[in-house]
Amino acid sequence: MVILDGKKTSTDLKNEIAEAVKQLKAQGKKVPHLAAVLVGTDGASMTYVSSKVKACELVGFNSTLIELPEETSEEKLLQEISKLNNDIDIDGFIVQLPLPKHIDEQKVIMAVHPDKDVDGFHPVNVGKLTLNLPTFISATPYGIMELLERYNVETSGKHVVVIGRSNIVGRPMSILMSQKRKAGDATVTVAHSRTKNLKELTLQADIIVAALGIPEFLKGDIVKEGTVIIDVGITRVDDTTKKRGYRIAGDVDFETVSKKASYITPVPGGVGPMTIAMLLKNTLQACQNK
Ligand code: GUN
Repeated sequence: MVILDGKKTSTDLKNEIAEAVKQLKAQGKKVPHLAAVLVGTDGASMTYVSSKVKACELVGFNSTLIELPEETSEEKLLQEISKLNNDIDIDGFIVQLPLPKHIDEQKVIMAVHPDKDVDGFHPVNVGKLTLNLPTFISATPYGIMELLERYNVETSGKHVVVIGRSNIVGRPMSILMSQKRKAGDATVTVAHSRTKNLKELTLQADIIVAALGIPEFLKGDIVKEGTVIIDVGITRVDDTTKKRGYRIAGDVDFETVSKKASYITPVPGGVGPMTIAMLLKNTLQACQNK
């Protein structure tokens, strides 16, 4: 069993990005600049955004964090987005999700200029991804593809079962792996909460992408010997033995599933760190596209 080490791979990627920034600087070119908008004080969102800003510093990007109060109106947020769209120094920006309930998330996603949409959430970029055209691929699926590629995991002709159909992970993952591309050419099944015969499907799968957001959902008894396991879950679960009062749990029961797996991503240290590295890669791309 091989651990797909997202921590190490993301460090390699960040070193490569830092090297590219050094070269841009040496050539007197612009350094990439990422902005992040955070509305409210959700604990997990604050942690993710601060990790993204820290990662920018690490690779030599400029970064701007815009923190807005929970009660910010939709109109005010759309104004902030418009400012970022028009700011020539900002190469790319993200609005951290989820947003407070009074704000229409889709409206916000559509307000981000597609050329600065380094999250790859805008319908124009999702459309390009679907057509296998160059675009910003959303960071989590992009990170998984990169991990599969760098570990030379064979995907061609394999049966992939993606559990979860979210716009951010499950859906794009299923599209990417079915495409003619590196870590693609697979036969893909998308399973979700209404799927009736999940066990039947997972027992047939060569690769399982667990992205449903239920801690330790996937157990060893519904996985066949030699399966490649990608765990996208990052749920905070109460744990009084921890100083901070919680632990991060994946969607996979590592204990039982790792005994059957050929490759497996751990949580933490698997898909999570890759997501941040790919956001940086998209931002470098946005800067170079100019
Ligand atoms: N919330 C959870 N994942 C993401 C992400 O990749 N981007 C943004 N903007 N918000 C998120």
